[in-house]
Amino acid sequence: MDTAKLLVDGKEYELPIVTGTMNERAVDITKLRAQSGLITFDPGYANTGSCKSDITYIDGERGILKYRGIPIEALAEQSTFVETAYLLIYGKLPTRTELMNFQLGLKRHSLIHEGMKNFYRGFPDTAHPMAILSAMMGSMSAYAKECVDGVSDEQLMNENIMKILSSVRTCAAFSYKKSIGQPFIYPRHDLSYVSNFLNMMFDTPYERYETDPDVERALDLLFILHADHEQNCSTASVRLVGSSLSNMYSSISSGISALWGPLHGGANQKVLEMLEAIHRDGGDVSKYINKAKDKDDPFRLMGFGHRVYKNHDPRATVIKGACDKVLAKQGVNDPLLNIAKQLEEVALSDEYFIEKKLYPNIDFYSGIIYKAIGIPTEMFTAMFAIARVSGWMTQFIEMRRDPMHRIGRPRQIYIGQPEASYIPIADRK
Ligand code: SDX
Repeated sequence: MDTAKLLVDGKEYELPIVTGTMNERAVDITKLRAQSGLITFDPGYANTGSCKSDITYIDGERGILKYRGIPIEALAEQSTFVETAYLLIYGKLPTRTELMNFQLGLKRHSLIHEGMKNFYRGFPDTAHPMAILSAMMGSMSAYAKECVDGVSDEQLMNENIMKILSSVRTCAAFSYKKSIGQPFIYPRHDLSYVSNFLNMMFDTPYERYETDPDVERALDLLFILHADHEQNCSTASVRLVGSSLSNMYSSISSGISALWGPLHGGANQKVLEMLEAIHRDGGDVSKYINKAKDKDDPFRLMGFGHRVYKNHDPRATVIKGACDKVLAKQGVNDPLLNIAKQLEEVALSDEYFIEKKLYPNIDFYSGIIYKAIGIPTEMFTAMFAIARVSGWMTQFIEMRRDPMHRIGRPRQIYIGQPEASYIPIADRK
């Protein structure tokens, strides 16, 4: 057994080393506190593994991403989002029959309970789609039959999986229709997963929406690329909330809330707003590169940098290639794409970005495609959530089935007052 030795106050502690299938190694500190009274300290968990997982593999130094061992480039090229979601959730590529049944199940669970439609009336038209989505997902548990741990009853678990994966589209599309004061468009049985979503977004009683196959393919590709990404902030939130035996709907709702942040999934909306601001300001990319480098300037190059990728984000590479194709097919010459490419070019030859290993991440180009296919900017992060729901559920189920599963409860280092007395209010200054 590989071990690490820790010498503290003249005492030596031997800790096991665990090694993953790709030879990643970790010091197993599960017994550290019992043996030594010590805990580890790692704000942001940059150096801390929370679990063992066989779902997704990332090599940040080499820009590698695999779902269940299959390279993301192969899935982007040959798979569909529904097939990729099945691969993640059930751990294998579906047979033709399994895929057909999965698609049928998603159709059957595409509606939300009519009672939930009333919730939309309570939101202002200006409500951000992510505020609505997290509320709707959490509320869905009130309408779902629950098995106590979310996974022991296979049939019930599969029902919840279908419900969440299918109706998250409906909730997102309804939030858009509400924001523009249009009637909700219901899901249809004759449309695919992606074209059903597009139809719920853009069909109207007065004009039939026809899905452009190129638009459908572009969105399907984006969903594949966003489906899972190991223990990122929102997935870690889903696992932590789910570790208390909270149900899958509430755990997924916490993932939606975490994803909304501009440092995480909310960055895709911020990237487009940043590109539009640079465009309005005359398109001087060097000015904004310098602002991003200026310690005293809060401006950051949104869509750049990543906690794990210290090389290209393979998803950004795929999306950048798709950008050119989608815009060419749509006959769109978007100045924002040119600004994005100039930003990338200048940044990647700049000492600051090279030294800090800052590359474009998944959010840098995705907004350009969303915009080209007509998705409003405020909906960008909701698009990320629709796809990531498949990864969140997969991670939730793995956590619940892990024999070592315990409620998550980090420790801390206390730096407050050692002792203080209660002072009656009459005596306070
Ligand atoms: C996603 O984890 C995942 O897997 C997430 C995700 C997924 O699929 O789930 O990949 C999706 O969230 C992608 C990231 C989207 N966020 C953004 O694009 C926001 C802009 N990027 C950053 O804020 C930042 O790069 C993070 C949040 C992505 C990563 O933050 P870290 O790992 O905590 O790194 P850091 O903030 O400590 O930065 C290290 C250094 C700092 O400089 P120093 O203090 O060392 O001098 O790099 C600098 C930072 O100032 N830096 C940037 C920068 N990102 C980091 N400087 C300018 N512009 C940036 N974008």
